[in-house]
This record gives sequence, structure tokens and C-alpha cells, in this order.
Amino acid sequence: MISVLESAGKTFELSENEFNSIARLINEEAGINLTSQKMPLVKARLAGRIRKLGMKSYRQYVKYVKDDPTQKELLTMIDKLTTNKTSFFREEEHFDFIKKNILAQRDLKQEPLRVWSAGCSSGQEPYSLTMLLKEEYHNMAKEDFQMLATDISVEMVNKTRLGVYEEETMESLPAPYIRKYFTKVADQTSRTKYRVTDDLKQHVRVARLNLISEWPMKGPFDFILCRNVMIYFKRDLRKNLVYRYGKLLKPGGYLFIGLSESLGGNSGELNYVQPAIYCKPQ
Ligand SMILES: C[S@@+](CC[C@H](N)C(=O)[O-])C[C@H]1O[C@@H](n2cnc3c(N)ncnc32)[C@H](O)[C@@H]1O
Repeated sequence: MISVLESAGKTFELSENEFNSIARLINEEAGINLTSQKMPLVKARLAGRIRKLGMKSYRQYVKYVKDDPTQKELLTMIDKLTTNKTSFFREEEHFDFIKKNILAQRDLKQEPLRVWSAGCSSGQEPYSLTMLLKEEYHNMAKEDFQMLATDISVEMVNKTRLGVYEEETMESLPAPYIRKYFTKVADQTSRTKYRVTDDLKQHVRVARLNLISEWPMKGPFDFILCRNVMIYFKRDLRKNLVYRYGKLLKPGGYLFIGLSESLGGNSGELNYVQPAIYCKPQ
């Protein structure tokens, strides 16, 4: 049993049984694999929610989630338990690769580009790519580049759609990019924030999509970014997703995963190109 003092002065305990029911639920619903090392994290992330609902235990909360016919609380729980770490131009090597190997030979007017950011978190990944495209193609029209950005988390989907970022989030961006692609806005607390311009937004379609469910889109995509997402899934699910990504890619299209990930022997029909980049044969 783990026990900590919660800020409201209440002590919640998370038993192994309660942790196992939460882990089972999140695995069935989102494919996320929570090992027992994640017990303190689960405990901390759900404690506030349990308190807010006036509940007394994790067991009561799990029952509430399971009994909720609207599944709203399930979505809230998923929001709380997903890891959404991201940043603008994260893993820059991939953007360099895209610039040199995909954009350099491409006339978008002849051949528009279609991309999917699967697990886009709060949107820095799709907007970074859109900025890169804007830099390369000054007269880019809406139909020349279309990006689909999806995530399981309702909160992250809303953030991506809104495209408003805190000052700290902007630190990885060069000043000229901030000037060109963002507008300064102040929220109710008068803190400065930055909103992505409509000119960037017009290229990005945002939707909630659970990767372990059916995918409504047909593709084909020139490339798919699924970076730092499958790291939370079990091997069989990763293998299945890679197979499905392969089906949605154009021949010669690329799959990008996170730099700390590897597909090992599970790349299916995709060929290894360089760390974290795989290509569908022509
Ligand atoms: C660590 S973030 C990665 C964000 C971005 N791709 C990057 O590399 O910076 C992982 C994202 O995957 C999403 N995710 C986790 N499980 C998912 C699932 N089953 N379906 C869709 N998205 C999922 C999470 O909500 C989270 O926003």
C-alpha cells in the first residue's frame, strides 16, 4: 500500500488491487500499459479528481468510471493518465530529414502533401511541421498541404484546436517564427500567451481518435508521425499499429517514431531508413 498526505489534509491509499483495476481499464480502453512502477504516478494523478468528486477511495472511483453510461468520466480518467510531454520542433533530426528528403524534391502544386500526426498532444508537432512547410513554400495554398492531427485526450485535442501556448512553451522557437506564425494574446490573468495564426491553422484538421479503435480515414498519407506514443503500448499492439500505418502510407511514404523508440523486428513491410524512420517500399 502507498500512502501520502493529500493537500486537502486527507490521506488516500492505493492498494495493489485498486491499481490493477485501473491498469486493466486503461489498457482495455487506450492500450496504455501501466506497470507497477507507475503506481505512485497513477495515485498522484487521480487523487485530485477523487477529492473533487467527494469520493473516499480509488475503488469507489473505479466503480464510478465503470458505471458511468456516458463514459465521460472514462475520458477524464484517460486525460489524467496520458503523458502529454511535447515541444515545438521536438527531435529536430526528423524535421531536417523531412526538409532534405521529402520537401526538396517536391512541387506541392503538382503533388500535394498529406500527413498524419497520430498522438499530437497539444499540437506543437503538427504546427511545427506546418511552420516548416510555410518556410519552404511561401505561396502554399490550403489544399497543397493538409495535416490530420489526432489524439485520444479530449483536453489535448481542444488545446490543439485552440492553438494557444504559454510563454514557456515558446522557448524552443526562433524569434522570427514567433513573429510570423503567432499573435500575442492575454488571458484573464493578463499572462501573455501566443496564438497560432489562422494561416497555419487552415492546414491542420484536428480530431479525437483512439488509436486502438477503428480509423475512419482512408489516407493515403505521405508520412505519418507517431512519435513517443507507442512507447506506452505493449509489443503486440505496437506491431498491429505499424501494420495499419503501413496500409495507410503511400508507396515510398515514411513512418516516424520517437528517437528513443525502435520497432525491432516488428517493422512489417516497412524498411528501416535511419533511427526512428521507416519507409514503405515503392
Ligand atoms: C508523449 S505525447 C507525444 C506527443 C508528440 N507526438 C511528440 O512526440 O512530441 C503522447 C500522446 O499520445 C497520446 N495517446 C496515448 N494513447 C493513445 C491512444 N490510444 N490513441 C491516441 N493517442 C494516444 C497521449 O494522449 C499523448 O498526447
